[in-house]
Amino acid sequence: MQSEWKMDTKIIHESQSPDPRTGAISQSVIPAVAYAFPDAETAASVVAGEAEGVYYGRYGNPTSRTLEKKIAALEGAEDALGVSSGMAAISIALLGFLKHGDHVLVTKDVYGGTYNFLTSLAPRFGIECDFVDCTDTAGMLQAIKPNTKAVYIETPSNPKLTILDIKQITQACKLHKLPVIVDNTFMSPCLQKPLELGADVVVHSATKYINGHGDVLAGFVVGSKEVIRFMRKRLMGDLGQNLNAWDSFLILRGMKTMALRVERHCRNAQTVAEYLEAHPYIERVFYPGLESHPQHKLALAQMKGMGGIVSFEVKGGITEGKKLINSLKLAMISFSLGDPETLVQHPASMTHASIPQKERVQFGITDGLIRVSVGLEDVHDIIADFDQALAALFPYTERNSISK
Ligand SMILES: Cc1ncc(COP(=O)(O)O)c(C=O)c1O
Repeated sequence: MQSEWKMDTKIIHESQSPDPRTGAISQSVIPAVAYAFPDAETAASVVAGEAEGVYYGRYGNPTSRTLEKKIAALEGAEDALGVSSGMAAISIALLGFLKHGDHVLVTKDVYGGTYNFLTSLAPRFGIECDFVDCTDTAGMLQAIKPNTKAVYIETPSNPKLTILDIKQITQACKLHKLPVIVDNTFMSPCLQKPLELGADVVVHSATKYINGHGDVLAGFVVGSKEVIRFMRKRLMGDLGQNLNAWDSFLILRGMKTMALRVERHCRNAQTVAEYLEAHPYIERVFYPGLESHPQHKLALAQMKGMGGIVSFEVKGGITEGKKLINSLKLAMISFSLGDPETLVQHPASMTHASIPQKERVQFGITDGLIRVSVGLEDVHDIIADFDQALAALFPYTERNSISK
């Protein structure tokens, strides 16, 4: 690891050098499942994790290993594990710390898939959880039970963009010897480094900003060598959640432009958030880059940029919200985020539909909430699209009565 390089240089060069045989600069795709060893002793030490190496495709491959080393360096970690999706990373990270009879504290507005795993699958294996408001660290600590074994947070959260104080939470958890897992998907390693702020493990859906092109599903777990070795051998390998070489190649390629992409996502999102906040048909905008955001100051201190996701509530409610996204012509209605295209979605009926309505409202995911993943297009075109959709929303007769 070249620790003296700046982030943007590391994104391009870290752990990569021309192929010694051909001189090829881009990473080779090595899809081999089986690997040969010079002798039985070497094979045994690689399998035992005593020597660096790859031995069977379900536990990793050389292309993914290059990517894992790069991700570890970008997050400032000892090691990383590439897996088949963000949900694979999240489930592996949680199962790495939890077993039958254990309890985990979870921040209240998390990605719908994480909520599903914790409320539907994990309880079948005797793992229980409580969703707590982690913006209140003291209140969060009160929810610790004798069998609590980990704390899981997502910041900024999906879809409300709630910002949590990673340093304060991890310091408090250290006193209780509780490992803290942080979903860093919305930020990418470019904008936030949870491990430097005291977290034990970072998880990513690399499907989003890390790959950035909407054509790969992947995830990463990032942490100490010991934690990653256990997760590789006992969880990823045994459950068969490995990341294949082709997808790793695509991510390595997509990542070359990550710093540029993320910078532009942030710039466009700030402009869109300011436009929406000033619009008379918009009730509320959630974006950490706005002064009106309740954790704006914390966001400025903790994050290098405010990210590409903006959520808002349109005046009226669910009917108006759906009508608005149906009227967009450039932005597309889609479940994903972090792609070059501007994508919009309605969390209550899409990504967070599996959360019962009562809890959704408790988590602040109202029926009228819309989430926008602001893309890389010219921001004037994105705004013009929202402008025409908002103009079409209310009949002319009602327009004059709508005031900010
Ligand atoms: C914050 C966050 N974490 C994790 C995931 C899951 O990622 P994947 O779809 O790659 O499994 C998502 C998906 O949208 C997400 O938004």
